[in-house]
Amino acid sequence: MIISKKVEKALNEHLSLEIAAQYNYLSVASWCDKEGLEGAAKFFYKQSAEENTHFMKFFAYINEVGGHALVPELKNLKYEFKSITEAVELALGHEQKVTKAIYKILALSKDEGDHATEDFLRFFVDEQKEEEVQFKRILDKLKLIGKGPQSLYYIDKEFEKLSAQATGKKKKDTAAE
Ligand code: FEO
Repeated sequence: MIISKKVEKALNEHLSLEIAAQYNYLSVASWCDKEGLEGAAKFFYKQSAEENTHFMKFFAYINEVGGHALVPELKNLKYEFKSITEAVELALGHEQKVTKAIYKILALSKDEGDHATEDFLRFFVDEQKEEEVQFKRILDKLKLIGKGPQSLYYIDKEFEKLSAQATGKKKKDTAAE
């Protein structure tokens, strides 16, 4: 096995955070759909799909390096949100947790002299920075738009724009691979 037992355990524990992100965003997307926030729904469906790719990257990596990837149990899903702001705050909070967890595994792989895992995690360091910045910007926009009578309309338009940008970025990333 290329990775140590300690790193394997840490990576397996991390799987639950990635799948929780996938399911949380799917749940937010569905709530947005129900509330008529089509742009926000589209954005969160995409986020959810992206989290699935993160989950699968970790999952495949564990097995690739001779470990045993374990499908995590998922608890405490939330289906209702007080507002789109609450949903975005929860998303940002979750991403911050994911970033911390990735930094911890990175530190552990350094201690263990595990350069392969360090290398593997580099993509996620960049990805986490992007996601945290994105959710912080959305929160700033939500504050700026405020709670006026037409605010939900403008908020939804902003999500629509973000969703289109995300599609453009993914196309560029795929072309670069
Ligand atoms: Fe894959 Fe956004 O954590």
